[in-house]
Amino acid sequence: MTAVIPAAGLGTRMLPATKSIPKELLPLVDRPIVQYGVEEAVRSGVRRVALVTNPGNTLSASHFAPHPALERALAESGRTEALAAMRALAALAEVTTVHQEAPLGLGHAVLCGRRVVGDAPFAVMLPDDVIDAEPPALGRMIDVFIEVGGPVVLVERVPHSVVHRYGVIAAEPLGGGVHRVTDLVEKPAPDEAPSDLAIVGRYVLTPDTFAALEATGTGAGGEIQLTDGLRRLLRQRPVYAWELEGKRLDAGTPAGYLEATIHFALKRPDLAPVIEEALGAARGVAGR
Ligand code: G1P
Repeated sequence: MTAVIPAAGLGTRMLPATKSIPKELLPLVDRPIVQYGVEEAVRSGVRRVALVTNPGNTLSASHFAPHPALERALAESGRTEALAAMRALAALAEVTTVHQEAPLGLGHAVLCGRRVVGDAPFAVMLPDDVIDAEPPALGRMIDVFIEVGGPVVLVERVPHSVVHRYGVIAAEPLGGGVHRVTDLVEKPAPDEAPSDLAIVGRYVLTPDTFAALEATGTGAGGEIQLTDGLRRLLRQRPVYAWELEGKRLDAGTPAGYLEATIHFALKRPDLAPVIEEALGAARGVAGR
């Protein structure tokens, strides 16, 4: 199975940080956002990645490629731990870059991955949605995919006031966090949302999704939406959803990025005391 990771967005919500650095390369503690996604894929048994970037971006793929000069320098200075980490990163996954020539939407970005995916089931992982779950969310979804024998989208209940930021499903619960999807709407107004179950950045899909996407016109925001492609697919076959068990962080907005940074820093024994002290001090200042 291949994981398609769309990473060709302009990152406008994170400007000016993303003016010259692709959004997915901004670090959360010590790893770029996209590495969390690739590591989740690998822990889920998916080692082949199609990274969809804009044509000018060569940086994102190079993060996963060997860096001989750096490795030599680390070897010569005896930095064996760092050297091992760099070699492990280069061996982590088989990353192929695919260019999305124009920003035509998430559905179009997924279509760009078709050549790498071939005629086989595939995953889509939106790197902004960083998921902290054990076992990994994608791996759980692959298990559900095998069990139900059809496409699975990851969903999470969100406050009704924010449904307009997401793809939202209408669904019938089947038990065990699995739902049968009866409709999907991209970015609905709150009074038009069919539920509070929002799609959150992970999909395990069948290859007939590509034909559905090809037949899909522009939707919300004037873009070709993956949600609309899946709505079309729903006419042909059952589509399922699985409710996330774990913590999802939206690293694509300044507030979510900060929250994600603190979340992962607090999990590091060497950094947690520093963060707790800094937050305590900040609270003290705010309370004065
Ligand atoms: C995309 C999808 C949307 C989904 C969301 C999850 O929207 O189009 O269906 O709910 O990701 O993060 P975007 O955040 O790119 O606007």
